[in-house]
Amino acid sequence: MKIDKDAPVGVFDSGVGGLTVAREIMRNLPSEKIVYFGDTARVPYGNKSKETIIRYSRQIIRFLLEQQVKAIVIACNTASAFALDAVREELEIPILGVIEPGAYVAAKETKNKRVGVIGTIGTVGSGIHEAFLRKLDPDITVIGKACPLFVPLVEEGWLHDPVTKEVAQRYLGELKEKEIDTLILGCTHYPLLRSTIREVMGEGVRLVNPAYESALTLGRILEREGLLRTDGGREEFPYRFYVSDLADEFKTFANSILPYDVEMTQKIDIEKY
Ligand code: DGL
Repeated sequence: MKIDKDAPVGVFDSGVGGLTVAREIMRNLPSEKIVYFGDTARVPYGNKSKETIIRYSRQIIRFLLEQQVKAIVIACNTASAFALDAVREELEIPILGVIEPGAYVAAKETKNKRVGVIGTIGTVGSGIHEAFLRKLDPDITVIGKACPLFVPLVEEGWLHDPVTKEVAQRYLGELKEKEIDTLILGCTHYPLLRSTIREVMGEGVRLVNPAYESALTLGRILEREGLLRTDGGREEFPYRFYVSDLADEFKTFANSILPYDVEMTQKIDIEKY
């Protein structure tokens, strides 16, 4: 199959969180066109079963293929943990998730070989970070902690709120006691809480943002496949955003965190796919 280098990259998430990944792609690969899908009707994914997340992911991938994307980024940690392996072999275009890029950098950065992972109940429960990290270095100890309240706090806009700090102290206290030196922000929303997490964990702990690492990995994959756009000309293709519900709310949130104006957000019926 001949893949069109000028085609957009498809990026999907359970809702708004994956915009942290889209944002890093926009910053680091500015010539790339993006079609984003946020599954705002069925969010959250973090407390759903593996079977359900695979089914949702397949539907979204069918939609993105219809948009003729050249590659797909699963910009959701939970969907990456549960669905990437299942869908990878069904596709002829490159697909990547956000778990492996973050795990790779954490394995490289840790000095005391004690790595913390925070994420949804699904992601932490899947043990996928531990599996990757220990494959990279069997001496690494991984300490996981699900932080489910972080997602609604971010969506409420309480990024620098005393309540968020209190919640962070309760969740992260355990990780501090275990003396990790590296912490993977294993959920799309958590990079938006970076300063609060930094305050609680202290300067000595390296925070790994998988959104950033995934954008760099995408660039390397596109380059390797001869699919990287480097010559600008993206302007004729405004970033496209699709959602399964609440298009206006999505647009408001997107405009609060993206460096570009979100001009078009369209609701589609994802159950059709
Ligand atoms: N996007 C999800 C993740 O990164 C968090 C929100 C949800 O639970 O759907 O795991």
